[in-house]
Amino acid sequence: MKKTLREYISEAENKKVAIGHFNISDIAGLKAIFSAAYEIGSTSSPDKSFDQQIPVIIGVSEGEANFIGHKQAAALVKSLREEYDFPIFINADHHKSLESIKKAIDAGFDAVLFDAGKLSLEENILKTKEVVNCVKFSGKNIIVEGELGYIGSSSVILEGIPEGANVNKEDLTKSEDAARFVKETGVDLLAPAVGNIHGMFKNMPNPAIDIERIKALREAAGIPMVLHGGSGITDSDFIKAIDAGIGIIHINTEIRLAWRQGIEKAIKENPNEIVPYKILPFAVEEVKKVVSQRLKLFNKII
Ligand code: G3H
Ligand code: ZN
Repeated sequence: MKKTLREYISEAENKKVAIGHFNISDIAGLKAIFSAAYEIGSTSSPDKSFDQQIPVIIGVSEGEANFIGHKQAAALVKSLREEYDFPIFINADHHKSLESIKKAIDAGFDAVLFDAGKLSLEENILKTKEVVNCVKFSGKNIIVEGELGYIGSSSVILEGIPEGANVNKEDLTKSEDAARFVKETGVDLLAPAVGNIHGMFKNMPNPAIDIERIKALREAAGIPMVLHGGSGITDSDFIKAIDAGIGIIHINTEIRLAWRQGIEKAIKENPNEIVPYKILPFAVEEVKKVVSQRLKLFNKII
């Protein structure tokens, strides 16, 4: 592989596009995300030049990683990267303990997100710094992301704003806190609360994103920023957020919903089918549609 994830992130920032980060729970999700990214790259670059490929990040939360296995998830992603010479990376998403971060480091993850966003600023700094040190000690080139502000914790269909989520203007991540957090922890990426929430509503868009806050935070933090809770955000907010300083965008709920709809469709159309590899392609197809749309938008491909 010719470029590192770190290089792809700074390239995305310079080009004013964002790298898509999509969560998986199984191989159907991985197949869908990989083939969406691979096909978009191949179409925009018929000679399959590596430089034209659309980088993509696979995320596994603690729950998702515990189901697949840290080592197994990392090996699957690495195998695609090597076989297709394609920029696909893996992130330990929302890992909440040092113990699970260590599993990701040992398994060969490219990035880790230590999520202490629910704690006070002081505690968050202390614990995140511990993670940064642990990664440094490993000697591996792993990107560390820190979370500042609480945006809910479940990628599900929402009935209301998640309890305790920082969505009001006065509760969003503040520039001075971001600057201090980055300086004292040494993280590479920052996930702020800018009106975004995990999960999405059934019949209406998620709350609007505070674009001015993103601009201010990018300047104060001085490092690339990650927009979590991408499901349910409007296309125009995504574009404005990218232009304001977002370099990576996370999507999970939309993928889970598409997966479920694919399985339901398979069972409905083939009520007697029991062969997993004949049922799961329906999920792959639905997830792939979501990922293709999102990747085209984030990479500003018309
Ligand atoms: O880390 C995962 C994402 O932030 C997913 O958020 O489920 O609202 O798309 P979402
Ligand atoms: Zn998230």
